[in-house]
Amino acid sequence: MSPLKKSFHTSNPDADTAIDRTIPDFPAAQISDEDKYFKNHKPPSYLPEIEKEVANFVEFHQNQSGKNIVLVTSGGTTVPLENNTVRFIDNFSAGTRGATSAEYFLENGYAVIFLHREFSLLPYSRHYSHTTNCFLDYMTEVNNKVEINRDFADEMLLVLRKYKAAKESNSLILIPYTTVNQYLYTLKSISEIMERLESKALFYLAAAVSDFFLPQSKMPQHKIQSQDHGGKLIIDLEQVPKFLSRLVDNWAPSAMVVSFKLETDHTILIKKAMSALERYSHQLVIGNLLQTRKKEIVFVTPDGHEDWVRLTDEQYAQKEEIEKLIIPKVISYHQQWINSHSLKTE
Ligand code: PMT
Repeated sequence: MSPLKKSFHTSNPDADTAIDRTIPDFPAAQISDEDKYFKNHKPPSYLPEIEKEVANFVEFHQNQSGKNIVLVTSGGTTVPLENNTVRFIDNFSAGTRGATSAEYFLENGYAVIFLHREFSLLPYSRHYSHTTNCFLDYMTEVNNKVEINRDFADEMLLVLRKYKAAKESNSLILIPYTTVNQYLYTLKSISEIMERLESKALFYLAAAVSDFFLPQSKMPQHKIQSQDHGGKLIIDLEQVPKFLSRLVDNWAPSAMVVSFKLETDHTILIKKAMSALERYSHQLVIGNLLQTRKKEIVFVTPDGHEDWVRLTDEQYAQKEEIEKLIIPKVISYHQQWINSHSLKTE
């Protein structure tokens, strides 16, 4: 099967996780919030299939291509309000940062596991999907045959070549999620598999992960009926445990971890990035503001160093992508990480 074709879908409601009142509702036990979460929430039914595909991918690159592997997370998680989901809470992320970054990682010789919100932007196809153009606008009819419209053909050829190169070298695997539960379980499984790569594994966590969720034990099985709630719906959400420390300390302790910090108030961005580094003890935070995220970002490291990366107005007007500047820098941090690990093991 082609690695770019998915055999499972995450956006359909999972009937297997129909409400189970026997699941205890967060007992006051002495285990961490992260462990409690996995104890009280069922994994997605397709998870073993994903684990197999990812393990094969990792093995191939470990034993045959020798490429470093990056896990790029992308898009936003949903929080379903009903088990047979009609309504859910979502967020703004379209997956631009993740899909664009994945392309530059591939161009720079990495193999990419792309953990993305299903139906959000994908590497390569992003150039033609989710635009105001219909995909048919890229085509034209010549002598009873369909051809690519000349206005787009040159650029499309470049994208096509890169896409084919990624596919033929088995360098890109697409793994979908929709809900925050699917995301967390899949992140955990992939991280544990990637730990085999030791320092050659890189995590680039650009997904916008929900901070609040409705536990499975509290989720109604069927669509919430408006007449049952006297015209009001009050939703009591719980905080999603912070999994980054589990990733750093337990799931993939030899890997380099880059997280993103999104804020809308520029006065707190650096402070929040620093507190994430202190709390999770990982290696790098890339800070961005909602309003300017396509034009400027800041690298923040545990020693308090700030390094701003900006597109000039001219570059921005010419539709240059800031990820083209971000990824080589991330890779040089990763190379230093790999070098420091090989020194330790010598
Ligand atoms: O898709 P675009 O429109 O291009 O937007 C890109 C972006 C703005 C979403 C992206 O650049 C970005 O900033 N992503 C992180 C946004 C965020 O919500 O961060 P956070 O503070 O919730 O989480 C911090 C980090 O921990 C993130 O890397 C997140 O993936 C990770 N995390 C958070 C919670 C959790 N339970 N598990 C996690 O792995």
